[in-house]
Amino acid sequence: MLLLTLTAGPSVHDAVAAGVAPIPRSDLSETDRQRVLAVTAPTADFSRAEPFEQMQGGAGTVDKRVNADIFSHPAANLSFEGRQEFMVGNGLFRKDWVSSPASTLASDGLGPLFNARSCQACHVKDGRGTVPGIDPEDKSEAMALLIRFALPSGAPDPVYGRQLQPFAVTGLSGEGRLRIAYEPVSVELTGGETVVLQRPDYTIDTPGYGPLDPDVRLSARLAPPMLGLGLLDAIHPDDILKNIDTPQARRDAVSGRPNWVIDAASGQKVLGRFGWKADQSTVKRQSAEAFFMDMGLSTPLREDPYGDCTAQQAPCRALPHGVQKEQGDHEVPGNLIDFVTVYSSNLALPQRRDVSGPKVLAGKKLFYEANCIACHVPKYVTRRDAARPEHQFQLIWPYTDMLLHDMGEGLADEDGKETLQREWRTPPLWGIGLTKTVNPNATWLHDGRARTLLEAVLWHGGEAKAARDRVVAMSPEDRANLIRFLESL
Ligand code: HEC
Ligand code: HEC
Repeated sequence: MLLLTLTAGPSVHDAVAAGVAPIPRSDLSETDRQRVLAVTAPTADFSRAEPFEQMQGGAGTVDKRVNADIFSHPAANLSFEGRQEFMVGNGLFRKDWVSSPASTLASDGLGPLFNARSCQACHVKDGRGTVPGIDPEDKSEAMALLIRFALPSGAPDPVYGRQLQPFAVTGLSGEGRLRIAYEPVSVELTGGETVVLQRPDYTIDTPGYGPLDPDVRLSARLAPPMLGLGLLDAIHPDDILKNIDTPQARRDAVSGRPNWVIDAASGQKVLGRFGWKADQSTVKRQSAEAFFMDMGLSTPLREDPYGDCTAQQAPCRALPHGVQKEQGDHEVPGNLIDFVTVYSSNLALPQRRDVSGPKVLAGKKLFYEANCIACHVPKYVTRRDAARPEHQFQLIWPYTDMLLHDMGEGLADEDGKETLQREWRTPPLWGIGLTKTVNPNATWLHDGRARTLLEAVLWHGGEAKAARDRVVAMSPEDRANLIRFLESL
């Protein structure tokens, strides 16, 4: 186990002095608990890299050539059997589904309404999606920017359902095309530089099934990268809940909130972890949701083969679906969902680059001093009793607290009246420096509005306003170092 080899690092005493409360963690012995507390305490030494910092995804981190495939490797510590499953899952993640009936029986069932034909079409090379319009060459039937619909009550649009599906199988109308208009927003930085941010505004053109409900709200979400999701699943809930109490010294206005969701299978209240609002509890559930909502494919977790096609969309419900009784009750059988889950849980973190570089270390110090770590919590040691051995007891560096934060009016969904519309889960920052290596058209934040890492930071408001203001006030050199640090992740 990785931790057994750990010798250096701050002491427990430092951890207590830094204001980190003792953590319960029933999976650990008292000795281990103390060691975990010590290694996960925020560092105060920026003169050199911390032990194991380069291995941001623990023992699963890969040391591979940095190219466009860098997000697509299996975790280094995945077993032989795990790798076989990963490969099957990879095939399913890339597979283009087709409409029913088709000669390729095992690949049909797409739609009738859909957002993309494959998982990979949105999660480009296992990284982020591309906002429509950025790549004028792209004529594929995929829209990686999802538009969710909700009435003020939380109910879906009575006709269009929960989500815009711009595409449909032959003979059926899609639900409409998304038009995005950007409004410029100027920010002046200390040192004379002006950054022009772009604020998106969304309209649905040529709606295919009559007008949308006049009260419907739109929430845009871009496909996030797929790295290290099994490790995030293996963070102990106690460690996440501990983050609610930001230590006094780092408080600013920061107060994270867990997103409790009801697990459909058990009826139990569980911690939401995945998606930009942490509204899915596990990788498996999120994957089943993607098959259902984004591709119109049923699974044992989501049984309706018509996906998000509502009772008001009669022509959609009249079309054939892809369930073949001899192959089971679902378009995507349960074992296939399991392979996709193994795949989605085990995409490896790349090693960090230049961890000991003076500019990177200076930027890391600024990241701590600007209080980014109040939300982007640097490190964890995963559960000893995690479901899969490769995720157990790993020292990981995801830079997230896995909690929701009010990020202010600027990042709120279209109609930011209710608190939840201003709330977003702190996204993990690991791997963020390789975003454009993997997808040159990728952009940042929940709706992909930020074209650079600096733009992403300048959009921070609400609980993160103090941190953002510190970045605005930095000297140009400090700001450049802060970005250098982010690029090394
Ligand atoms: C149409 C585009 C699209 C397709 C197709 C798609 N996804 Fe996603 N995916 C997204 C978006 C957008 C999110 C964020 C959702 C949210 O915030 O509610 C997401 C989130 C996820 C997450 C959670 C990641 C995180 O960091 O929280 C997983 C896991 C995932 N998708 C797996 C899949 C799998 C598996 C498939 C194929 C079965 C798939 N996705 C197909 C757009 C897509
Ligand atoms: C109050 C909590 C909070 C603080 C403090 C905070 N962030 Fe964030 N950060 C978030 C949330 C939440 C998001 C996602 C917002 C969105 O997508 O609308 C985010 C997004 C980001 C992103 C883009 C991530 C992506 O995947 O697109 C970067 C980069 C980032 N933060 C860097 C920083 C830096 C640097 C600082 C310190 C100057 C900082 N953050 C301070 C909560 C915080």
